[in-house]
Order: sequence, then C-alpha cells, then structure tokens
Amino acid sequence: MAEIEKKPIKIMETVLRDAHQSLIATRMTTEQMVPIISKMDQVGYHAVECWGGATFDASLRFLKEDPWQRLRILRDGFKNTKLQMLFRGQNILGYRHYADDVVEYFVQKSIANGIDIIRIFDCFNDLRNLKTAVNAAVKEKGEVQVALSYTLGDAYTLDYWTDMAKKVTDMGATSLCIKDMAGLLVPYQATELIQALKEATDLPIDLHTHYTSGVAAMTYLKAVEAGCDIIDTAMSPFSMGTSQPATEVMVETFKGTPYDTGLDQNLLAEIADYFRPIQENALKTGLLNPKVMGVNIKTLLYQVPGGMLSNLVSQLKEQNAEDKYYDVLMEVPQVRKDLGEPPLVTPSSQIVGTQSVFNVLMGERYRMATAETKAVLKGEYGQTVKPFNPEVVQKVIGDEEVITCRPADLIPPELDKLEQEMAQWKEQDEDVLTYALFPQVAVEFFKYRQAQKTKVDPDTADEKNGVYPV
Ligand code: CO
Repeated sequence: MAEIEKKPIKIMETVLRDAHQSLIATRMTTEQMVPIISKMDQVGYHAVECWGGATFDASLRFLKEDPWQRLRILRDGFKNTKLQMLFRGQNILGYRHYADDVVEYFVQKSIANGIDIIRIFDCFNDLRNLKTAVNAAVKEKGEVQVALSYTLGDAYTLDYWTDMAKKVTDMGATSLCIKDMAGLLVPYQATELIQALKEATDLPIDLHTHYTSGVAAMTYLKAVEAGCDIIDTAMSPFSMGTSQPATEVMVETFKGTPYDTGLDQNLLAEIADYFRPIQENALKTGLLNPKVMGVNIKTLLYQVPGGMLSNLVSQLKEQNAEDKYYDVLMEVPQVRKDLGEPPLVTPSSQIVGTQSVFNVLMGERYRMATAETKAVLKGEYGQTVKPFNPEVVQKVIGDEEVITCRPADLIPPELDKLEQEMAQWKEQDEDVLTYALFPQVAVEFFKYRQAQKTKVDPDTADEKNGVYPV
C-alpha cells in the first residue's frame, strides 16, 4: 500500500480572542495574558488570534485598556508566532461603515503594531465591503485571509460557496477561511464543502467553527480528511460551549496520522493549567454563565452564533426579562429572513438580535425599529443574498431612498475631520483610530488615561456596567 502523504494540520489558537469573546464577553485582560505568552510562543501554533473582533471595544469600554498597547505587548512577547486579528471589512472593529481612508489607516497601523495575518470578513459576504481592507493589507505586506461567513438557507448552496471562493482568490487573498460562527456546519456537509472549495481554489483553507451545537470536533475531523489546512481551536479551559473545540483534543485526535500537528501535549497541558483558574474564577463571579457551556442544539434551528447567545443573555438580564430568552431565540430566524437572510455575525448578529429583543419585548414586530435595522433596509450595509421582506421595508422605512452601490462609496474621507475633533486627546497616532471607531468611549478612555497620569480619580473612570454594545 502506498504511504499516505504527510500533511500536518495547522492549529490557529483562539484563546486570546474568540474563546474569551465567546465565553466571557471578551473580558480577559492583558495582565491575564502576559504571564503565559512565552510558553504559548514555544508551541508552534500556525498563528495566535489575539486582537480585533470585540477585543478592541471591550478593552476600551470595560477594561480601561488601550487596545493598541495590548497589541504591542503581545507582539513583544510572541517572538516566533504569527499574530492574527479579526477585521470586519468596512466596519473595521466598529459597527458602522467607515470611509476608505479610515479603513486603510487602520490596516496600516494594525500591521505596523504587530499583526501578521488579517482575517477580513463582511457580515453579508458582500465582497465590495472587503475590497478596501484587502487592498490595504496587500499593500502593507500583511497576510490576507478572507473569511466567508458561513450560514444556512436556500441561497447558500455549494455553488454559492465555490463561486465566492473563486472571487476571493481573484481578490488577492493569501488564504480562505470558512467562518462558521454558530457551529452550523455538520461533519458530512464539511466533507462536501471542503472538497468543493479545494477544487475551486488553491488557497490554503482555514475552518473556523464553534462548539455551540456540539458537532464542531467531528466537523474538523471530516474537514481535515477532506483537505482542510488550518483549524481554529481554543485551549481546553476556554474551549467548547460557544467557543472552539479544545486544542489539546484536536492535537491528540490527529496524533500518529498523516495529519499529526507535531505539537507537544506536555507544553499544552502547562498552558491549560495556567488558564484553568481564570476560567474557574469567571464561573465563580458569574462572568462565565454555565448556560453557554453546554450543547445548545437549538442553535441549529436559530442559527445564533456563540457571542450573540451570551450577549442576548446579558441584554435580557439588564431588562429583567431573562424568561424571554427562548422567545427571543425564536424571533431571530424571522427577523433574519425579513432582513434578506444574512449570515449572523457582527454586526448583523447584533442588529438582528437587538431587533428580535425589541420585537418580543414590544409585543409587536417592528413597532420600534432600531437605527441599524433601518440602515440595513436602506442598503447601507451592502447587499444581502436574498431580498428584504417588502412589508417590513414599508413599515420601517416607508418610501425613503435606498442605495445599491458599495456603501462606502458614499462616505467622504473622514480622517482629517476626526484628527481635528480629537486633537486635544492625542498621545499617539493610533488614538485617532480609537476615536474613529468609538468616539464617546474613546474620549472617556482618554480622560481616564490622562487622570491616571495625574493620579486624579475622575468620575469618568467609574466602572461601566452596561450590556455589551449592539
Ligand atoms: Co468565531
């Protein structure tokens, strides 16, 4: 029998980004990360995802940390490991569309401060919304991974995915990610999808999923057998539930096979030992809600990604309406359909989630529509695969004008104006980007930063207890 060609699977570690975003509302601090960096740097991970996504917002808003400083500290510690970030196309790390000059500058500064691989996605898979970020990353000589937001629905056929993969290849990406936020990709479907993608493109394929529906590890196994190159996993204390499959488990799964990762289990065990007390403490303080840790098979029906589940829980808690959790979950697929059946990932997940909460708490659909729902229906987030529900369009925006072009084409350059607005707070070039993304939170943070220096304790430094921004 011919010997099977060796093809070690690459591991992308998420414990410093997606894992804690999914399980503990992105509250892991830089201080908690620092002591373990040198050990993690010896593992031989393909990359460590440690920045972007919600970490930027959460560091500023809840942890009173400068996200740029965190990135520099991580870069300084990880001497041998590629650092990866998650970037929301034209939304950058915020929730609206920004002008091209802001997107370009953000990409430039992310790479300058230490990012190697930028994973770029759009919540509608509208590739027009990725163009500026992809081109900027290519220009800055970063590795560009374009991620397609995975979802289910009539429009999302194998032809859809392979067609998208070809377009992504033509855009100049260096790898392709299938980003399955809710754990919707089941094992045998993964075989079909990865095989089809492998025929459509020569790019390395990275599969990103979440354990929410309980199938993730099996999905990785089938995907790897079908030719997947990279899988995203999380160190065991922050794995499973709404997070990723455990790194150690996947490493063990492929041991002694052609896919052997070659990673050292003893070293991984030491790293897990470090993170375990952090997880246990989060459970004790309630930061980690046991509700998001088990298998939630209903996610297959509601198609709700991990981060969104924990946000919904805290949003409803704030309203003393935790008993409405399943009502809201049931409303989600309806709202999603009304809005053109987009994948549910930031910001579409927040938009659909918040609108679902409104619909349930108000007792009537779209009696109140959020500004973001209106913007989606006006085309301001780009094009969805399916059309919007015309009745909902009529009820929410009436005869207001809609747009069909790339939304950012209508946004004039913003950087100069932003620089002027925030000049008094500026201590580093990157501050204007922080301000661009979250103007109010940034100013609060800048005041706090200044006060720390003068050792005055202003009321602006009060702990914020609000729900995660939507
Ligand atoms: Co994820």
